[in-house]
Amino acid sequence: MKKNNSSKNPIGVFDSGIGGLTVAKSLFEILPNENIIYLGDTARLPYGTKSKATVTGYSVEITKFLLNKNVKMIVVACNTASSVALPSLRRISPVPVIGVIKPGAKAAVSITNNFKIGVIGTLGTIQSSAYKTQIHKIERNIEVFSNACSLFVQLAEDGWTENKIAEMVTKEYLTGFKDHKIDTLILGCTHYPILKNTISKVIGKKIRLIDSGEETAKEVKRILEQEHLLNTQKKKGKHKFYVTDFQKKFKEISERFLGQPLHDVKKVKLS
Ligand code: DGL
Repeated sequence: MKKNNSSKNPIGVFDSGIGGLTVAKSLFEILPNENIIYLGDTARLPYGTKSKATVTGYSVEITKFLLNKNVKMIVVACNTASSVALPSLRRISPVPVIGVIKPGAKAAVSITNNFKIGVIGTLGTIQSSAYKTQIHKIERNIEVFSNACSLFVQLAEDGWTENKIAEMVTKEYLTGFKDHKIDTLILGCTHYPILKNTISKVIGKKIRLIDSGEETAKEVKRILEQEHLLNTQKKKGKHKFYVTDFQKKFKEISERFLGQPLHDVKKVKLS
């Protein structure tokens, strides 16, 4: 733990792109007085198809960038980066580093009644088995079924979330889960909460959906309280956004993910 870490310092949040704004949105709601710095690595998106070494290398660079901004905590909003890079990030960070896997896994374990949990995410997240490992650390007897749903990222970015194509793709990816009779499904990717309605329609309204980002925001609050790092200022926190590239549909996509326009966005070069 960093000495003189101040509650006034911002929280650093990063993702492979702007999908992590779904996590930032939950943080803004749960911690309205916190100053938050968000970095989206839009130049190198996607992380979900890249190797562990590459994703870890990118994540280390971003962590150094955020530490230079004097953050009091780092939230890894990206599920893929959370799955593979946390140990490396914790080695170089004097402030707490929180990923989205553990909070999502914890919430799913506490909710399942029949001990059958489904996990969906990018190829990188699913191949790492990070959710399965975390679930089994808490409860060995839970059966975990998983599937990589790569096309969901593009569907969410294009806003194809509730049309026929979205429904067809979702059916294709989720049919297996119905056979396994899961009662809980973890949305293990920043983009998937955008498809929540279609996922719920296809898998059935009785299946509980876990939004890892939302669970992470609650966990961040708990840790800040525990470490006496909660910002007690009365005014609303400041939000700053950095990207490594301006994508063509940046404004449209970011508004869809955050639910409001983005102000104060700067482009940065990392290395
Ligand atoms: N942010 C990534 C994740 O949550 C999805 C997009 C990507 O593949 O980079 O895993």
